[in-house]
Amino acid sequence: MRISVSFGAAMASPFAVCRLKGRGSLVKCLQKVDPFLHRNIGTDVVAAQEERHGCKSLYAVQAEGQEQAERSVLISCHSRTNEKKFLKYISRHGDIKKYFFYESYGLYAVVEFANRESVASLFEGAAIPSVSHESTVPFKSRLLSLRNIGLADSTNQQSGQQCQPQTPIPINELIQRLSKEESIDQQITSLRDVYQLTEENSRLRFLVCSLLKDIAAAYFPECTIKPFGSSVNGFGKLGCDLDMFLDLDGISGRNATMPKSGLSLEYQMKRANSERAVTQSILSVIGECVDQFGPGCVGVQKILNARCPLVRFAHQPSGFQCDLTANNRVAMKSTELLYLYGELDPRVRCLVFTVRCWARAHGITSSIPGAWITNFSLTVMLLFFLQRRSPPIIPTLDHLRDLAGPADKSVIEGNDCTFVSDFSKIQLQSNTETLEQLLCEFFEFYATFAFSRMSINIRKGKEQNKPEVAPLHIQNPFETSLNVSKNVNATQLDRFVALCQESSWLLQQSETNAPRGGSKGKASKPWGLATLLLPSQIAGIKSRKKRRREPASERIKSLLESLKNTSQQKKS
Ligand code: GTP
Ligand code: MG
Repeated sequence: MRISVSFGAAMASPFAVCRLKGRGSLVKCLQKVDPFLHRNIGTDVVAAQEERHGCKSLYAVQAEGQEQAERSVLISCHSRTNEKKFLKYISRHGDIKKYFFYESYGLYAVVEFANRESVASLFEGAAIPSVSHESTVPFKSRLLSLRNIGLADSTNQQSGQQCQPQTPIPINELIQRLSKEESIDQQITSLRDVYQLTEENSRLRFLVCSLLKDIAAAYFPECTIKPFGSSVNGFGKLGCDLDMFLDLDGISGRNATMPKSGLSLEYQMKRANSERAVTQSILSVIGECVDQFGPGCVGVQKILNARCPLVRFAHQPSGFQCDLTANNRVAMKSTELLYLYGELDPRVRCLVFTVRCWARAHGITSSIPGAWITNFSLTVMLLFFLQRRSPPIIPTLDHLRDLAGPADKSVIEGNDCTFVSDFSKIQLQSNTETLEQLLCEFFEFYATFAFSRMSINIRKGKEQNKPEVAPLHIQNPFETSLNVSKNVNATQLDRFVALCQESSWLLQQSETNAPRGGSKGKASKPWGLATLLLPSQIAGIKSRKKRRREPASERIKSLLESLKNTSQQKKS
């Protein structure tokens, strides 16, 4: 059962629970927003390095996002809500700092007040609808419904709202868009611009964490829930899942030094004899709470026996697929590391978005768990490649650890997770390779990588002998005895290698690596990066029929032959 709170004491209509079905396109209108998580990234490396010194740490981004979210509410509105009247009505509770509308199974507004007191004032003026069930639980969520108070326009027009799509554009549209660009570098930056999380989508992610925290706080009043993974590491694509971390460190005493005498709190963990069992118990009760009382949270599954126990559910008002974990501090560190690498050089994010999109277009990655390469593994592979450039574009993790100060020291479950947090201490070497060169080199690098013998290691920035027989070995950056790509089977790795060979080859063909403008009134023909995303052409320039008859090894041999010829031609 869901509880919905409506405005206005004299509410004429009967109580209506927000009905949230299926997954619709989000449409938002944003007013007066500050730049947040958005960076103006060009390919001017020097400018980027200067900008780097002003970078916010992930810690600062998280703190800012959490603080904004606590002053915010999420309101389900009538589809023809008049914006001006709505603002006038809501601002009776205090100054509004930011607001935006979006669509997801109806119209929603995110309203950020200037002060937290406004949220309390809004609750005071809100009605708890009477329901016939005796089991109604008056849980005061910051997900509210606004109904029947004359704020709707009688016409179909939504006054002054500028709408913005919040789900990624379909791949066909992306291909068309990229085909209109004038260089492969522009195609790559354009892809990043189209796919990356918008400022308002990031805010909504923090707000959903904050709404979840209100639920978890029933058990753990001082807990926090933070987003991690691609929601905050700078590599998130619109529509990506929302990974959340229930942080109890503030109350667990983990970071405090224990006095030798005096009072100590009595903690009772019944039936739990390991840290993992405690995590499972915590997630079990929170999962139950989310399932029973979490407004808009549906399809709750407690997946407690996974390597990393989690509660999975869909948050319908935002459209996010959510994974809630606890005691997952190594993943937080991985997120921080990926964020740092993304901030160091603008080419990192551009290439991560491109390679992730390319991999998804060819089914190398998937949203379904299985033997596929994950986005996380793919990102580590790209970072490793950038460390192997001459000169390297990004430093090794060991170097980042050597630059760390005493405050950066972090040991989690015996694993050294220390690395520098002060960006200004990191000196980059001046590598001026273009995005186009790097993308092509990335494909060549992995087309010929000795996967059978070597392991990918971003700690050392150098391939190491493989410690186990898994087809793909990528050392976990922090839990160094683990392989992050243990799930990947030989078939999937072979597909990845074959596609790298073909993509590298395609990028070197004069017929596909230059703009092919359409004649007047006609669409431009796919070229460059756009060609790499076309499933029917990526597997070879030859026709499908012909390709099917030819064994894969022959195809690859001929592609390699062609690559060899191209490079010989270049040399001569
Ligand atoms: P998408 O959700 O696919 O957009 O990317 P993501 O980076 O969020 O990946 P995912 O949701 O699978 O995982 C969330 C975060 O958990 C990652 O960003 C990593 O920080 C961490 N993570 C995921 N897989 C592994 C792994 O195998 N080992 C380690 N150490 N961390 C992982
Ligand atoms: Mg994720």
